[in-house]
Amino acid sequence: MPTMDSQRSGAAFSRKAGSANAMQRVLILGGTAEARELAQKLAGRDDFAVTLSLAGRTAAPAPQGVPVRVGGFGGSKGLAKYLAAERINVLIDATHPYAATMSDSAARAVQLIDVRLLALRRPAWVAVEGDRWTEVADAQHAVSALGQEPRHVFLTLGRQELGPFRQAPQHHYLIRSVDPVSPPLAVPHATYMTARGPFTEADDLALLKEHGIDVIVSKNSGGPATYSKIAAARTLGIEVVMITRPQLPEMPSVDTVDAVMEWLDHTDAS
Ligand SMILES: NC(=O)c1ccc[n+]([C@@H]2O[C@H](COP(=O)([O-])OP(=O)(O)OC[C@H]3O[C@@H](n4cnc5c(N)ncnc54)[C@H](OP(=O)(O)O)[C@@H]3O)[C@@H](O)[C@H]2O)c1
Repeated sequence: MPTMDSQRSGAAFSRKAGSANAMQRVLILGGTAEARELAQKLAGRDDFAVTLSLAGRTAAPAPQGVPVRVGGFGGSKGLAKYLAAERINVLIDATHPYAATMSDSAARAVQLIDVRLLALRRPAWVAVEGDRWTEVADAQHAVSALGQEPRHVFLTLGRQELGPFRQAPQHHYLIRSVDPVSPPLAVPHATYMTARGPFTEADDLALLKEHGIDVIVSKNSGGPATYSKIAAARTLGIEVVMITRPQLPEMPSVDTVDAVMEWLDHTDAS
């Protein structure tokens, strides 16, 4: 049984360590395509017991291939308690690059309990010749960057990040999200579409043309699944208001699923 209140090696939460040959109990903090891919790779291995954790942001998440738990842990202490209770050896932070609160929580939790932590961090997109990016710190600054003149805006942010655009009702918005935006954004001109990536450049080109889009607001999510809109904007010479990534805590990190597999196979399970 895990002990929740004793001290070991300076950790506030402790658990019995497994032997070097013990099965590794892995918790993946997910919500990304890479987390799902990693889970599916580990699902085929009998030396790993894997659980994937989702925030619960989407109503019907894609199948993950391993047991899934849903919802917050209650901060870093809650996460440490969960890790102890579930006798987790390894924590993989494969959250979205903008999920900085969850990453902070992971970094703090492993200071409370003896669990190895690795981040799987997707490299950011880098502007190339022909891109017209305006980089801003957050959605509020994106609103300012759109300016006063009415524009046709393709908004590709999470549903929870749309609020500031109420302050700019002069624009026409095309809003693409995984789940319906409810309640709708309180602006007079908004068109909604629900869709889940990956998207293709040909489809995004057609979409931008069909809606007469002259500016895109995007996070720098990185990865191929949603890059098509950035490539399509380049082709059409359209501006992209790019919300820059939040600061993430320092932790050992790799940028591919294969590198996580390699790390798991070459680090001590005890
Ligand atoms: N979360 C996702 O799956 C996801 C996917 C795509 C994009 N994003 C983007 O990331 C940004 C922030 O999103 P966010 O609010 O979800 O992240 P966040 O601000 O880092 O997380 C807020 C809280 O949600 C809970 N949480 C987040 N990820 C979790 C996970 N994998 N398992 C269990 N609980 C989790 C944690 O609650 P406790 O403190 O209670 O533990 C966390 O403190 C937005 O721009 C969003 O569009 C997130």
